[in-house]
Amino acid sequence: MINRLPCHSLIPLLYLWFAVIPLIALNISHAESPATETDDPVALGQEIYNLKGCSSCHKIAGAGGDLGPDLTNEGNIVSHDAEWHRRHFTDPPSLVPGSTMPKLGLTENELSALTAFMLSLRSEDLPKDIEGAIKMAHEKLDEARKGIDEIKKSGFNADHLEVKYVQGWTHLETINNMIYTHNLAWVYKETEEAVKTAKEILQEVLSYNKELEHRVIQTVVLIILIVIMVVLLFIKLLRV
Ligand code: HEC
Repeated sequence: MINRLPCHSLIPLLYLWFAVIPLIALNISHAESPATETDDPVALGQEIYNLKGCSSCHKIAGAGGDLGPDLTNEGNIVSHDAEWHRRHFTDPPSLVPGSTMPKLGLTENELSALTAFMLSLRSEDLPKDIEGAIKMAHEKLDEARKGIDEIKKSGFNADHLEVKYVQGWTHLETINNMIYTHNLAWVYKETEEAVKTAKEILQEVLSYNKELEHRVIQTVVLIILIVIMVVLLFIKLLRV
């Protein structure tokens, strides 16, 4: 009798214990993903960066691996906007042909947070005017790309323009590398070269378009002449 009494009084304690276990478990899983505790996407992105092992291939401010590009000034790369990063994270080779960066299978939230973190990696001392110039160079080259595609559709051979386009693209890629090293003089030079190349392409696209216009006008005039001749012939036949 005396022995059984403490046993009975233990039962409520046991219930309490079972109630506490899930709470403890919840707490532990919460502690394992501290990422959910912050609302700041940049901080969240940084945690995901660490969790996903990005630093095994990438350096930020001197820390990390060498397999991928240094990301210290990634946010300064004008062409890598939010849209670019999202697409790149989802499928790297779709933007960088032959890319060996692994597809990471990120959730929507992780994508947004990592993108915000990438865009936050920027040096404040990159002059505004150069950002504008680089943006302009990208727009011009995009315009050139569209022009080349148009004239190819019209059946012209545009191989030499494709070569020029690759040259322009290479200038823009070099700019990305130079932004990291902060070699601004070089960035300016490459930007100018890229714009120059894009303008040359656009000039040629313009002359192709003129040529095309000429051909269209010639064809129309020819058709009108043929119609007139047929009508004249018809009238003559009727009179006979
Ligand atoms: C196995 C190595 C590897 C891992 C892991 C890796 N990357 Fe990469 N990453 C690369 C390589 C190689 C490139 C260059 C090719 C390319 O741009 O896709 C690259 C390119 C990039 C670029 C474009 C850089 C530029 O300026 O051209 C970004 C941004 C980037 N990685 C972010 C990340 C993030 C964030 C993670 C983690 C979620 C990550 N990477 C994980 C190898 C890796």
